[in-house]
Amino acid sequence: MHIRSTRRNFLQQSTFAATGCLLPWSSAAASADTVDGPRSLRTHAQTHGLLSGCAVVAERLADEPTYADTVAQQANLLVAENAMKWRALRPAADKYNFTQADAILAFADAHGQRLRGHNLCWHEALPEWFQSTATRENARRLLTDHIQHVAGHFAGKLHSWDVVNEAIDVKDGRPDGLRKSPWLELVGPDYIEIAFRAARMADSTALLTYNDYGIELDTPEQEQKRARVLELVQRLKLKGVPIHAVGVQSHLTAGDGVPGAGLRDFIREVGALGLQVFITELDVSDHNLAGSTVERDTAVAKLYGDYLGLVLKEPNVTAILTWGITDKYTWLNHEHARRDGQPQRCLPFDAEYKPTPVFFAMRSAYDSHSQTQPSLGS
Ligand code: G3I
Repeated sequence: MHIRSTRRNFLQQSTFAATGCLLPWSSAAASADTVDGPRSLRTHAQTHGLLSGCAVVAERLADEPTYADTVAQQANLLVAENAMKWRALRPAADKYNFTQADAILAFADAHGQRLRGHNLCWHEALPEWFQSTATRENARRLLTDHIQHVAGHFAGKLHSWDVVNEAIDVKDGRPDGLRKSPWLELVGPDYIEIAFRAARMADSTALLTYNDYGIELDTPEQEQKRARVLELVQRLKLKGVPIHAVGVQSHLTAGDGVPGAGLRDFIREVGALGLQVFITELDVSDHNLAGSTVERDTAVAKLYGDYLGLVLKEPNVTAILTWGITDKYTWLNHEHARRDGQPQRCLPFDAEYKPTPVFFAMRSAYDSHSQTQPSLGS
């Protein structure tokens, strides 16, 4: 069985379902210097059996044509940066507001794109009313009602859900590595299983995903966190909990070292459990880099190329999303601002929507992995 052809078949089916047509598999046409149409990240990804995309914001899709065009051209998989989190969806304990989330789904549908849901259960982005409302007695019900309502609203329409986000924090000192989140405190460690089962009850088609960060590098602390994530996923599988994928967020920092065998082995262990791996929030912060724009761009693009070159060798890596499409709006300018005040250069398109070296590094990583993609033979 050739994994590439399996991945390719999967994407053909989902593309046909979304657009009613099959995409040409050859990306040979078109001149080398264009970045849209046949030379877009979207087409190169699809050609090699991959889903590729980015996090988006509904208001920008509606109000900024260049943003919308770039997203439409370059992505076949979207995720809402914030619009599907508790805080955005739940203005009050008895109210849901799907306006922004539905706008993103409508954009994806209109452009033949799939959509990831992010996320059904997290310790951040909880609405203001949560702290004063949630108790040990009602938290489980709050969680399952939210999931049933939200995953039910999108049932049958999503590629996947980040059902639980960032549940592991080794620093909290528990043997199982679970983060001491409000969900753990109020519901107990079974909140993760409860969330996955509620999501499957509400939506029988979305690929249910556990998503986390800080599991990419071969440092002792990231190795430890990876081990706790793997143990969590193994426990869920052993209990027959419906889980289909692990999201590796991949918020990398240039100069922090490159991922290696530890991540590769982790992806393979996840694959051995029958799970896919999605690269869910890829970006490379350049806040530690001095030097000229060219030097920074080169270092950032090299890390993208090295990282994708490593993960795309693994057949169960099926989707790559960057956390944003343009440097203009990257969260990194708020959370990891450069000391010199220069804007971050961390995504495939710069603040003026010109393709950066990251764009070309991603596109060639999509192309080159298929040549080295090991076919398992039939
Ligand atoms: O929309 C309100 C606006 O009305 C208000 O005026 C403003 C005041 O600060 O806040 C706005 O909401 C902000 C929201 O982003 C939309 O811009 C929140 O304060 C801010 O906390 C929120 O930050 C997001 C963060 O997750 C927390 O939800 C970032 O944009 C988003 O990039 C970041 O994404 C996370 C992933 O979900 C999980 N993995 C890590 C990643 C980076 O932190």
